[in-house]
Amino acid sequence: MKIGIDQISFHTSHYFVDMAELAHARNEDPNKYLIGIGQKKMAVIPPTQDSVTLAANAAAKILTPENRQQIDTVIFASESGIDQSKSGAVYLQSLLDLPRQVRAFEVKQACYSATAALQLARGYIALHPDKKVLITASDIARYGIGNAGEPTQGGGAVAMIISKDPRILALEEDSTVLTENIMDFWRPNYATEAKVDGHYSGHMYVDFFNEVFDAYREQSGMTLANFAALAFHLPYTKMGLKALRSILPQATEADQQRLSANFEDSRQYNQIVGNLYTGSLYLSLLSLLENTTTLKAGDRLGLFSYGSGAVSEFFSGILQANFKQALFPEQHQKMFAARKQVDVPTYEKIFQQQLPIDGSTVELDLSHDPAPYVLAGIKAHQRQYRKQY
Ligand code: HMG
Repeated sequence: MKIGIDQISFHTSHYFVDMAELAHARNEDPNKYLIGIGQKKMAVIPPTQDSVTLAANAAAKILTPENRQQIDTVIFASESGIDQSKSGAVYLQSLLDLPRQVRAFEVKQACYSATAALQLARGYIALHPDKKVLITASDIARYGIGNAGEPTQGGGAVAMIISKDPRILALEEDSTVLTENIMDFWRPNYATEAKVDGHYSGHMYVDFFNEVFDAYREQSGMTLANFAALAFHLPYTKMGLKALRSILPQATEADQQRLSANFEDSRQYNQIVGNLYTGSLYLSLLSLLENTTTLKAGDRLGLFSYGSGAVSEFFSGILQANFKQALFPEQHQKMFAARKQVDVPTYEKIFQQQLPIDGSTVELDLSHDPAPYVLAGIKAHQRQYRKQY
């Protein structure tokens, strides 16, 4: 039985900052951010959006009266959770008006958690082929103002529906995994920004990629010639390029050209959004699928997932007949085109508008947020979510 991604969508906030402007403000050469980091625009997330509303806004784009009746599992993958106990998935169930007969829960392992959710969903559908699983991968990447990690911030959510006979990508069964307890990036409970050993994290990303990819080649007997394209977790797009370049010498000239050209399609959306942690690999997959003019049904895609701490996985999938018809690039392009550029002082002000952590009541101004699902404030220690339309 084929099992995999039947639908996929993306949502981000309506604000962005231009990376060349940010570079000027930080006394850096713009090419460091544009080429060295590989980012053009960075999503700026206002306080009226959190990991739950971003996920709801993404998921609403792929829910239909039919699939609502078949979804019996909702998995919220995030490292920007809004509560230590209650899962974001339970809020999603009510905000999205899903049936009460669902199991709803949250998973976490840095940027790896959406892949964990995908593999769980695949196993679940194998046992329950008549069901569907809704996965949301939702995060806000925060390092702080003026530090080295700043140009690799961003945020947003990818939503996916996993089912049998998927319209987009059927997952293959061989995958290779690796876990090692390292301190490259983490966020203690008391911190709103990540702690990171930046250069070390980049080295570990490439090392983990090489190890899981080598193991995959050995296990499957495949080489780069078997892959039409590779999609990477993209914390910033140069990171994926470094991983790709580390294995390109294994490929023929023609394979190198194909994989490099497809990498360009796979980073278009990430270049104008930034890091959304666990959703980044799936935003890159969406970017590849919506921007490609060469990929076709039957092509094999390789996917590399990396979550600091660290857990990584290399796995693959086969593009399905008419996969383009299950996508809606116009809606995503429209969302990108409608975003408003903010200057650096405005981005800094928004960045600092953190919700109170002392239990006080707050009412947020919703008048500027055009998204259907928003956070209206906090009252009696409870987040107040609204559906605006
Ligand atoms: P930095 O130290 O300011 O930058 O921070 P740099 O000096 O290393 O320069 C960056 C690149 O720009 C270099 O290229 C420079 O040569 C180049 P590279 O050697 O890397 O190929 N450069 C220029 N290029 C063109 N024109 C110029 C120019 N000047 C310089 N004029 C760093 C960079 C990524 C370390 C920092 O932004 C950071 O710490 N970011 C956060 C950590 C991160 O994203 N790590 C990625 C791997 S870990 C991961 O993916 C997991 C994660 O998503 C979290 C999770 O799992 O939840 C982060």
